[in-house]
Amino acid sequence: MARVFLENIRKVFDNKVIAVDDLTLEVPDKGLVSLLGPSGCGKTTTMRIIAGLESPTRGRVFFDENDMTDVLPEARDVAMVFQFPVIYPGMNVYENIAFPLIARKMRKNEVRKKVEEVAKIFEITELLEKKTHTLDAGSKQKIVLARTFVRRPKMYLLDEPLTAVDPRTRLELRTILKRLQSDLGQTMIYVTHDQSESLTLADKIAVMNEGKLLQYDSPEEVYRNPVNTFVGYFIGNPGMNYMNCSLNEEQGKCLLDAHDFRHFLPHISIKNLGEKRSFIVGIRPENVEVSFESQKDWVPAECILSEPIGSRVVLHLKIGDKVIKAKVPHIEVEVGSPVWFRFPEEALKFFDNETLEAVKIW
Ligand SMILES: Nc1ncnc2c1ncn2[C@@H]1O[C@H](COP(=O)(O)OP(=O)(O)O)[C@@H](O)[C@H]1O
Ligand SMILES: [Mg+2]
Repeated sequence: MARVFLENIRKVFDNKVIAVDDLTLEVPDKGLVSLLGPSGCGKTTTMRIIAGLESPTRGRVFFDENDMTDVLPEARDVAMVFQFPVIYPGMNVYENIAFPLIARKMRKNEVRKKVEEVAKIFEITELLEKKTHTLDAGSKQKIVLARTFVRRPKMYLLDEPLTAVDPRTRLELRTILKRLQSDLGQTMIYVTHDQSESLTLADKIAVMNEGKLLQYDSPEEVYRNPVNTFVGYFIGNPGMNYMNCSLNEEQGKCLLDAHDFRHFLPHISIKNLGEKRSFIVGIRPENVEVSFESQKDWVPAECILSEPIGSRVVLHLKIGDKVIKAKVPHIEVEVGSPVWFRFPEEALKFFDNETLEAVKIW
């Protein structure tokens, strides 16, 4: 168990590639933090720096109050799992899982007890005596995870451990990992580019892009109050809709003008806006209200695509040259049919149209 503190970490490869850019992040002891961001944003490099497999160009790594920056990986007592399962060849499943315990000279009967316990958790008891080369990627990753969790290091570092696994096993393992982390009360850092994985697993999400930490908050907070348009789009399925707009005073009220449609926002005080009038307005697809009959003050649009996802459907609504996505309960909609939509005022988010940062105008 340990708290991890990364202080102003920078990593430059070959004097030109800035993989991690001034990252400061505190992972609480026993916390489950997810590093989330697109491919190439510096997640793996950050994990390798924590594990000691890479040294930072600048900045310090602390475990609790101890400066670990120059400590060798084997002396850090962390366990890391990579995207593609690394199985030790020539050993059966049992021997693979037992390996870290045998390497630490644990007694044989104690080893057996621990391996059987962890095999049960990962539901691979029946595989224990099998050779590994016949197994599929999902089973192999279960073995790697079992080998990792058979031991209690200071922390677990998991780098996209479920990406190469089939979807059914992925869901199964997600649940097992979440339960295991909370039962063990161990610090875990979980890297993924899949926002739904972060939202379901983590206590806190660190959203990264281009080596920088953009937001570090609870899943609820990154979903509800993204700090900029990137986070709003990256989190959510699908991401937030955005439109350029202006906010002006009309008849003593605030009027949102998104060029193709206009909307009064009675609860926003124009006085709070200062000089600025041009913004980007954002709304999540699940917050767009849709009607299949004409309603007063709702905006008419054309449904150009209906995309089922699970129990819901994403409607692509065309208005002028824009497309707005609305996520609604499952319904049959004919492509080309007219629909009407409305934005509930309280669900709107505003962003600076130059910096793309969130602005508070409520
Ligand atoms: N050993 C390396 N040498 C040179 N560039 C690297 C090396 N490792 C990573 N990079 C670069 O650093 C950036 C971040 O990579 P990485 O940390 O692997 O991102 P992620 O895990 O988020 O996909 C990328 O541009 C990648 O090409
Ligand atoms: Mg990576």
